Amino acid sequence: MKILHVTCSPRGEASESYRLSKNIIGFLLKAHPAATVIERVVGGDALSPIDEPYAISQQASADVTETGSIARSEALIEELHNADMLVIGTPMHNFTVPSTLKLWIDHIARVRRTFNVGAQGKTSLLQDRPVYVAVSSGGRFSGMTPRQPDFLTPYLTAVLGMIGLQDVNFFSVEGTAMGPEAVAAARDKAGQALQAHFSAHDTGEANDPSNQKLLTP
Ligand SMILES: Cc1cc2nc3c(=O)[nH]c(=O)nc-3n(C[C@H](O)[C@H](O)[C@H](O)COP(=O)(O)O)c2cc1C
Repeated sequence: MKILHVTCSPRGEASESYRLSKNIIGFLLKAHPAATVIERVVGGDALSPIDEPYAISQQASADVTETGSIARSEALIEELHNADMLVIGTPMHNFTVPSTLKLWIDHIARVRRTFNVGAQGKTSLLQDRPVYVAVSSGGRFSGMTPRQPDFLTPYLTAVLGMIGLQDVNFFSVEGTAMGPEAVAAARDKAGQALQAHFSAHDTGEANDPSNQKLLTP
């Protein structure tokens, strides 16, 4: 059992999204004590932007080279392919994912490798597996009174779905800019949502669709 842990905050291990994603991994390890965790930090300059041969390969009928971005993409896809579960820790940046996480997505969402394009549109090539996304944001983006648009959760749902990952579960710590009390309350709420989600999985209630796709404002 392998858990791939992808993180992208510029604040590294001090970040709120990293903290929340580690909590998720804690729950997963409780259920699967023998699992190994593969850390994939994509923040900072861990990944270079995709190069020209890669861009050309997305329009051509075959990859033109196995070096540069295509080689990097191949390694990252292999890492994802070999993982039984995916945990992503991400802050919200300008209503969506940070550019560093987007760059990882540009490497793993590759035509003829993780999805195909045909008469029916795009079809996925990866097998489904559980995905857990830990989101941290300065303001609130979900709940009854969101203060801003949310392009992060619909975007990740769509792009991961395109490559075959349909079982995407979001958890969030929102309002980190609102002071220590708000952060403590948001952490508490996220903890309760995690507890509810994973105990529902333990008891089988997770098969009820109303218990899935949790988000904690
Ligand atoms: C470039 C940038 C853009 C941001 N954009 C948003 C935003 O659109 N909405 C929001 O609520 N917070 C925004 N924030 C605040 C972060 O989401 C917030 O500080 C979050 O807690 C950071 O999480 P981290 O500790 O995991 O990096 C932004 C921060 C940065 C650096």
